Amino acid sequence: MGMANRENIPLVPFFYFFCMLGFVFIPTEAAVKKYQFNIQVTNVSRLCHAKPIVTVNGMFPGPTIYVREGDRVLVNVTNSAQYNMSIHWHGLKQYRNGWADGPAYITQCPIKTGNSYVYDFNVTGQRGTLWWHAHIFWLRATVYGAIVIMPKQGTPLPFPQPEREETILLGEWWNNDVEELVNQGNKLGLPPNMSDAHTINGKPGPLFPCSDKHTFAMEVEQGKTYLLRIINAALNDELFFAIAGHNLIVVEVDAMYTKPFTTQAILIAPGQTTNVLVQASQVPSRYFMAARPFMDAPLSIDNKTATAILQYKGIPNTVLPILPQLPAPNDTNFALSYNAKIRSLNSPQFPANVPLKVDRHLFYTIGLGINPCPTCLNGTQLTASLNNITFVMPQIGLLQAHYFNIKGVFRTDFPDRPPTPFNYTGAPLTANLGTTLGTRLSKIAFNSTVELVLQDTNLLSVESHPFHLHGYNFFVVGAGVGNFNPSKDPAKFNLVDPPERNTVGVPTGGWTAIRFRADNPGVWFMHCHLELHTSWGLKTAFVVENGKGADQSVLPPPKDLPLC
Ligand code: C2O
Repeated sequence: MGMANRENIPLVPFFYFFCMLGFVFIPTEAAVKKYQFNIQVTNVSRLCHAKPIVTVNGMFPGPTIYVREGDRVLVNVTNSAQYNMSIHWHGLKQYRNGWADGPAYITQCPIKTGNSYVYDFNVTGQRGTLWWHAHIFWLRATVYGAIVIMPKQGTPLPFPQPEREETILLGEWWNNDVEELVNQGNKLGLPPNMSDAHTINGKPGPLFPCSDKHTFAMEVEQGKTYLLRIINAALNDELFFAIAGHNLIVVEVDAMYTKPFTTQAILIAPGQTTNVLVQASQVPSRYFMAARPFMDAPLSIDNKTATAILQYKGIPNTVLPILPQLPAPNDTNFALSYNAKIRSLNSPQFPANVPLKVDRHLFYTIGLGINPCPTCLNGTQLTASLNNITFVMPQIGLLQAHYFNIKGVFRTDFPDRPPTPFNYTGAPLTANLGTTLGTRLSKIAFNSTVELVLQDTNLLSVESHPFHLHGYNFFVVGAGVGNFNPSKDPAKFNLVDPPERNTVGVPTGGWTAIRFRADNPGVWFMHCHLELHTSWGLKTAFVVENGKGADQSVLPPPKDLPLC
């Protein structure tokens, strides 16, 4: 698409202009960063179990992508595995360029075995930590990695320069083949077995069997400060993370700077990233880092603790590390107060441009449900819905259908509010749990401002749901427990420095209000980032129309876009 050249060419005359004036001016040109991703099956062993897993380049977790703000990135993905594949660049906005976004059947058809596709995108207006993952079936269980976006050359960090940085990818491990477990679960109409371990950089740590050599360690020197780029790549678990004896200073979430604050532990939902500074200020020793789930609903979960080691230089491996105190697994108050502490930096250089006027008010209820399934174990299957609609995956990419005006693939009649209002967060509702099936999207006018209230419900059970929107960041202007009150709650919204992010946890039995300006045309997926719920249909998409301007419409598709 020749996107990088657009930025480079005009720099040349400016360069000579400044030279003539006698300045020494070195233009910081946008670079092109190229990566090759081979999707291949590799044998990996954890917890005394070996199994073949799908990987990128044989690595687990996959390679980190390093780019600088303003760069163009080309990732050639070659699929040599037996599964269809697609990769999503989670949190990258992909302005006008949904073709590079990656969710299978939403913005592209999968890359078939033996085929390749080049994801070609610019990284603009973002810096910090994001990540990439497979966006088809449950393959992101092993196909994931970090994206590090460095600020433009000469742009200082809004916090002290750390000595060194480290990427901390939190994940989940199953001893059995995940795709097989999921297929079995779907046949029965029940959730698949939960994971057998959590992992830190692919390693569960020494609290698990056969895991001494599968322990991640990070060496530090006393008196120095380190940056941890923490990513929750787990499929189904929100996680607490802490380091024994060390406070964490949160400075960024979802590649947006925050007002720094100090905490003993962070809470991070699947899809989210959190950058923290850690000062190696303690007695030189070995200290455990630990990650364990947060779950404040009556649901079972893999509650095992993954550990890694913060190791001071010169301390022998024979020193037994101590464990940090993590919040209790059901500590609702910690979750609510932690999330309330996250504020946008909102500095002159990095302002929070919160939409103050709302053109379109949306209210979506999140529900679990039960639908008939004659072939399933109980004659029923568990399901999930937004406004009582369980999303049905199309047979071709929705963006393709939108761009080429192919009829009959989706409808744009997704309702702006639930069909019947009820007491969303009262006693558990256990009758009339059926949902409507459909590939229904919501059409949004270009550049309009949208407020979306996501309301959890007690259909079967309340639960915290991390919602992710593709193609955008949004501002989390409000959150609360119970039912959203449209006459009282908006008065309490933070319209000054709310967190700006791409994934937000809707509190258990509560609501979250987000706002964004629909300035990115295309078809953008929105879903719960718990893989179990996504696969049960807790998802929809926005069709953001083209604007009138020359550069306000969806770009033409690349020639190698995979076909179905
Ligand atoms: Cu990180 Cu649609 O996903």
